[in-house]
Amino acid sequence: MAYLSQFWDSTIGKKIVMAVTGIIGIGFVIGHMSGNFLMFKGAGAMHEYALLLRTSMPVLYAVRAVLVLAVILHALAAYQLTMRSRAARPEGYVKLEPQVTTLAARTIRWGGVLLLVFIVFHILQITLGWVGVPDFVHLDPYNNLRNGLRNPLIAGFYILAMAALGLHLYHGSWAVVRTLGVARSAQHPLKRRVALAIAVVVAVGFATIPIAVLAGAFPEEPSPVTAEAH
Ligand code: HEM
Repeated sequence: MAYLSQFWDSTIGKKIVMAVTGIIGIGFVIGHMSGNFLMFKGAGAMHEYALLLRTSMPVLYAVRAVLVLAVILHALAAYQLTMRSRAARPEGYVKLEPQVTTLAARTIRWGGVLLLVFIVFHILQITLGWVGVPDFVHLDPYNNLRNGLRNPLIAGFYILAMAALGLHLYHGSWAVVRTLGVARSAQHPLKRRVALAIAVVVAVGFATIPIAVLAGAFPEEPSPVTAEAH
């Protein structure tokens, strides 16, 4: 226990926690984005997918607990590291000319806050149906997404959040390999090809759904849930 608290108190400990929880997040978004493509197969496929995720409720709740814990630890470590770095340099630099920086690095903190807001809204909207989905039907994600994202403000928020996710992943997946000591420092940002590929594929892959809804690509389909009940 003492070792764990010593580890968490150290700056490198918090960075390792950020890296490990970040890897969990990267794995989750790649899986989630792939699953979302079932939207193009229709309401039945999305319904089957929703049922598949609920094959074992204890497993689903265990996965949810790991994800929630990962998000909390990731955000808490980020906040504490930010406070530490501010305390170490309360005045700020008179002239700051970073040698290697990217838009992604400069927006990592605010982008992270935007993503937190997105995740809370997304769960309230799509999992619980409390906001932003007219006629929410539990276990009918196709029609819930179709009806929820037809609102251009909500679809726009999703697309903005996916841009933030892309930037976050670009900087974050590079930071992971640096923290875990897999890559040397001072590499040119444009050479981070794997990080760039992950960021572009995930952001564009997710964004296709709100864009396709706005473009009217998903026709109205009878709900598989009400069809089953009859
Ligand atoms: C355009 C982007 C996205 C779409 C269309 C989308 C779609 C969905 C759908 C349909 C569900 C409900 C699945 C079900 O209940 O069967 C869901 C749940 C969820 N999504 Fe997303 N998602 C998107 C982006 C994201 C992102 C970027 C994250 C996190 C970084 C995320 C995190 C979650 C979580 C945590 C759940 C709840 C899972 C659960 O019920 O345990 N989503 N999403």
